Amino acid sequence: MTDETEADLTGGEPRPRPKADVDTIAGRKLRPSTLMMGHGYDPTLSEGSLKPPIFLTSTFVFPNAAAGKRHFEGVTGKRPGGAEGLVYSRFNGPNQEILEDRLAVWDGAEEALVFSSGMSAIATLLLATCDKGDVIVHSGPLYAATESFIAKTMARYGIGYVDFPAGATRAEIDAVIAKGSELAKAQGGKVAMIFLESPGNPTNALVDIEAVAAARDAAFGDNGPPIAIDNTFLGPLWQRPLDHGADVVVYSLTKYAGGHSDLVAGGLSGAKKWMDPIRMLRNTMGTILDPNTSWMLLRSLETLELRMTRAGENAAKVCAYLAAHPKVEGLGYLGKIADPRQQDIFARHCTGAGSTFSLFIKGGEPECFRFLDALRIAKLAVSLGGTETLASYPAGMTHLSVPEERRAMLGITDNLVRISIGIEDPDDLIADFEQALAQV
Ligand SMILES: Cc1ncc(COP(=O)(O)O)c(C=O)c1O
Repeated sequence: MTDETEADLTGGEPRPRPKADVDTIAGRKLRPSTLMMGHGYDPTLSEGSLKPPIFLTSTFVFPNAAAGKRHFEGVTGKRPGGAEGLVYSRFNGPNQEILEDRLAVWDGAEEALVFSSGMSAIATLLLATCDKGDVIVHSGPLYAATESFIAKTMARYGIGYVDFPAGATRAEIDAVIAKGSELAKAQGGKVAMIFLESPGNPTNALVDIEAVAAARDAAFGDNGPPIAIDNTFLGPLWQRPLDHGADVVVYSLTKYAGGHSDLVAGGLSGAKKWMDPIRMLRNTMGTILDPNTSWMLLRSLETLELRMTRAGENAAKVCAYLAAHPKVEGLGYLGKIADPRQQDIFARHCTGAGSTFSLFIKGGEPECFRFLDALRIAKLAVSLGGTETLASYPAGMTHLSVPEERRAMLGITDNLVRISIGIEDPDDLIADFEQALAQV
């Protein structure tokens, strides 16, 4: 929650504030898994309730007229610094602010913002950052809806794009940034954003964030565009992109952060200077997350490390079994990378291999469908990062709208099944995959 105090605006009584957070003990910096239990919340503000109540209110009462005016000066940008207190639930609320503080902890970010979905976070980010004539440089593949938002919706407002494949080398990235700059010049704009997704969905191809940051700095000096990265597949536990040169971290919190396949939400985190204009647009458009879902996410974040760790361990066991199976052609799993360049990026950027991977079955669509229809524990559904194991068929489901040629270029083949491993017993999962592969 915001921590400024304006005693003079509250009739002389300072608005009660959360106790100062304990984030270090005897010089030891507390880990995010500890901070998730209390950071940003003071029970004395809520009748001693151990857990934050859900604040179901559309508006907040001002202590006096001058305070109301000052709040609106902050919200509308007439005065820098944003809202100093709670105003109206399209702008902010206690549940959202506590959640934002805790999400920022995971990413090592100055600030975070939460949204009604991953896509509303991405749309608000791009609309807040780009002007007419600007160009977005992006890695590929991106989540299909992100790709079409850039290629179709942003294009309607005169915003162009150029892209490079996830595994691109520094020289290839330099060339695409140069191409983007030329296009921007021709359109009378600038390169406004570099948007990455790493690992890419569904192939798990990694982007070299450090090489992208170096290429950006070489091309633009201190005035370069921000680098945003969709960290949905590995974040926030297994990859902290801000440590490697990214400026804004993007999430579908629907996935690992929510973790129970029972909510839809999005998040952005980064420095205040990047978050401020995005918050302003979120205030206008109302793409903020609701209090109830924010509360559910607070609960999810308490078990995030436990869930993700177990899912990661399960995936390692399942992949060891699948890799040796005679009906399996290969795996797109970060724990078994064949390409040395990709392995180098993994070693520099990631602290875990995740639990979502591609399984290439010998054959094509009929073999994959026999496998998928035979699964007994794993559910046939899109999405990922939940407690339960899910399996889907990208070429015929999530990526059906991607043109066939581009699908081939991105490695989304007819024999690819995407699997997201949950927290079940790993040997039960292996038994399920064994009997399903026997049907292929
Ligand atoms: C990598 C990635 N980014 C963004 C999104 C969009 O998130 P949401 O469905 O929460 O809007 C998804 C959804 O599957 C995704 O997989």
